[in-house]
Amino acid sequence: MKLWGGRFTKPTNQLMDEYTASITFDKKLAKYDIQGSLAHVEMLKVCGIIPAADADKIAEGLQIVLEKIESGEAELSEEHEDIHMNVEKLLIEEVGAVGGKLHTGRSRNDQVALDMRLYLRDAIGTTIQLLAAVQKSLINQAKANLDTVMPGYTHLQRAQPVLFGHHMMAYVFMFQRDTERLMDSLKRVNKSPLGAGALAGTTFPIDRQFVADKLGFDGICENSLDAVSDRDFVVEFLANASLISTHLSRLCEELVQWSSAEFNFVELDDSFTTGSSMMPQKKNPDVAELVRGKTGRVYGHLIGMLTTLKGLPLAYNKDMQEDKEGMFDTFETLKGALALFAPMIDTMHVKKENMYAAVKNDFSNATDLADYLVGKGMPFRESHAVVGQVVLNCINNGKYLLDLTLDEFQSFSELIESDIFDVLTPETVVNARDVAGGTAKRRVEEQIKQAEQVLDSAGLSEL
Ligand code: ARG
Repeated sequence: MKLWGGRFTKPTNQLMDEYTASITFDKKLAKYDIQGSLAHVEMLKVCGIIPAADADKIAEGLQIVLEKIESGEAELSEEHEDIHMNVEKLLIEEVGAVGGKLHTGRSRNDQVALDMRLYLRDAIGTTIQLLAAVQKSLINQAKANLDTVMPGYTHLQRAQPVLFGHHMMAYVFMFQRDTERLMDSLKRVNKSPLGAGALAGTTFPIDRQFVADKLGFDGICENSLDAVSDRDFVVEFLANASLISTHLSRLCEELVQWSSAEFNFVELDDSFTTGSSMMPQKKNPDVAELVRGKTGRVYGHLIGMLTTLKGLPLAYNKDMQEDKEGMFDTFETLKGALALFAPMIDTMHVKKENMYAAVKNDFSNATDLADYLVGKGMPFRESHAVVGQVVLNCINNGKYLLDLTLDEFQSFSELIESDIFDVLTPETVVNARDVAGGTAKRRVEEQIKQAEQVLDSAGLSEL
């Protein structure tokens, strides 16, 4: 007989049991479900809603049930639908009929919302720590590459040289914003829905704040209907996870490109690459590709959750059981990617000479020639045109700017003097961008300091 079987005259259809059960996946919530129940039962005791002796017995029983679930000893069954009913059933087996007092003043509707929030709170904490580890790896590469000049790109065409360290730091700041978004979301995740009951509250004189304090929540959900019917906090996590995945995926794309023979800018360590079953020479950046690929499923979960919610009338609807698998999978997917990313970046070999050679053999110092003429009084639009002519002439003669003689330069503009040869070297070009946030070495060092301070103040630098 089902725990809710009283008003039924027939057993449920077995296919329906299988179809509606969530225990195969929501068993992941066991720990949080029992944590919530322990707080709830203590509140029932403190508020005098159930006798203290009963509450103590239930609390003891819940601990045993948790141990039995974690050790695999307890049998979780689809017949009992979900983790909440399974725990209650196991509890009653453990302590007898008194276990039936646990659900006083509570519904699975506020209970499941609570479990989701407790799970996400932990998941967000772990994600923030893993992000910090990736940031640290990127910062280490930035520090090791403060003299590594590489082509910077727009439209994937060489544009202006930048320091490889500057490029690494760009991702550090992206991940910093991801962390800030996660932290901010905790304000909304970390509120207790318990006490909302099925939808309208409860007739028992419960103390919602007591439960919230006990579970480390910052407060309680203000409206019982809202508390049991919205999953915006899940959507927010999926959206934040999607952005993290976007950032990771862009870096993955760059790693894949940079590892190709065409770029040949980095070599990923053997321990983070794979071979080919047919082609003996291959070394494939599989991790980077797979992280890029898994971005699709994270986006999918976000769209799936939004779509599930969009037509739901208040308050709880069974549709909302679909909130779980996507959230679990998103967290697991992200956790796997971030955990691999930090050591993959740490062990990445940067081919400084190849990057430098690429900068030498292109026109990414053309802006600097134009800026030089501006410094001599020529309007920028005019200098842009003059340098366009110089570049065209070089292309036609198989030369780069630094291959020209002073005479050749001066044939385009009398304003050009012999100091131009220093102005156009990659190092000078990079260090000339001495503006806050720019690619000059000392500016990149500033960025590293800023990022380290943020990580330090959040207590994340030692990870
Ligand atoms: N397994 C359900 C879920 O995850 C728990 C809440 C069920 N509530 C109900 N009234 N059927 O959404």
